[in-house]
Amino acid sequence: MRIASAPVSLKYESGKRVLQNVSFTARQGEITALVGRSGSGKSTVARLAARFWDIQSGEILLGGHNIGTIDPETLLKYYSVVFQDVVLFNASIIDNIRIGRRDASDEEALSAARLACYDEFACRMPQGYHTVIGENGETLSGGERQRVSIARALLKDAPIVLLDEATASLDVENETRIQAGISELIRHKTMLVIAHRMRTVANANKIVALDSGTVAESGAPEKLLATKGIFAGMIERQDVKRRTVNKKFN
Ligand SMILES: Nc1ncnc2c1ncn2[C@@H]1O[C@H](COP(=O)(O)OP(=O)(O)OP(=O)(O)O)[C@@H](O)[C@H]1O
Ligand SMILES: [Mg+2]
Repeated sequence: MRIASAPVSLKYESGKRVLQNVSFTARQGEITALVGRSGSGKSTVARLAARFWDIQSGEILLGGHNIGTIDPETLLKYYSVVFQDVVLFNASIIDNIRIGRRDASDEEALSAARLACYDEFACRMPQGYHTVIGENGETLSGGERQRVSIARALLKDAPIVLLDEATASLDVENETRIQAGISELIRHKTMLVIAHRMRTVANANKIVALDSGTVAESGAPEKLLATKGIFAGMIERQDVKRRTVNKKFN
């Protein structure tokens, strides 16, 4: 399934114009990465793809159908969503994971949790996966919440994956393990990711760089690197940062 858009514009209720003539296609079997400065509209685009709001002009197509004509509840069946603001319920970890697919067995939920690297946390909790996490899971760290969310998405196994990658830096070992879980999640899927990590960007088939709510450039990462635009600048800054850190500690 692919997501395509005819030039889309959006104003928030406050009247603030956030997107203007945004248009791109995310293809099945590919990773499409959204990049851009804070506030450029990345999360807004990812949420629009799942019809969190209706747009004022343009069209968003899912496998050729205008999503504005699909009932939101039906539509959500097509999406696995991993956003930064994870909603958790006052229930056990395993039941929070089962939100991904309510009829999943314990075995299925646990295997998703393992792929999302939740085991190390679960074994430190008093009743493991059956520990109740309290109102909106306030006892969990950001990383733990994100893994619950990845486990849910793995369990749901929907054809489209929307991922708002955590900005918080994970250590290298965890990043590699989480990445393995995510690779499992996205095989043959349509993946739209808001990318902060170099590794995700490097693995993408297509980059869409946003600037103040418009698409500033889009294309294969190698192609954009050669054009020395926004994306190339971003990669260069990250490289400089990494070199500075290495110098300091070596
Ligand atoms: N619900 C809302 N109502 C009004 N304005 C909003 C709302 N959500 C976001 N905005 C504004 O829309 C713009 C784009 O926000 P968005 O969250 O899409 O940016 P982003 O690229 O995801 O940023 P970041 O990298 O910091 O997550 C920002 O200026 C933001 O303040
Ligand atoms: Mg965002």
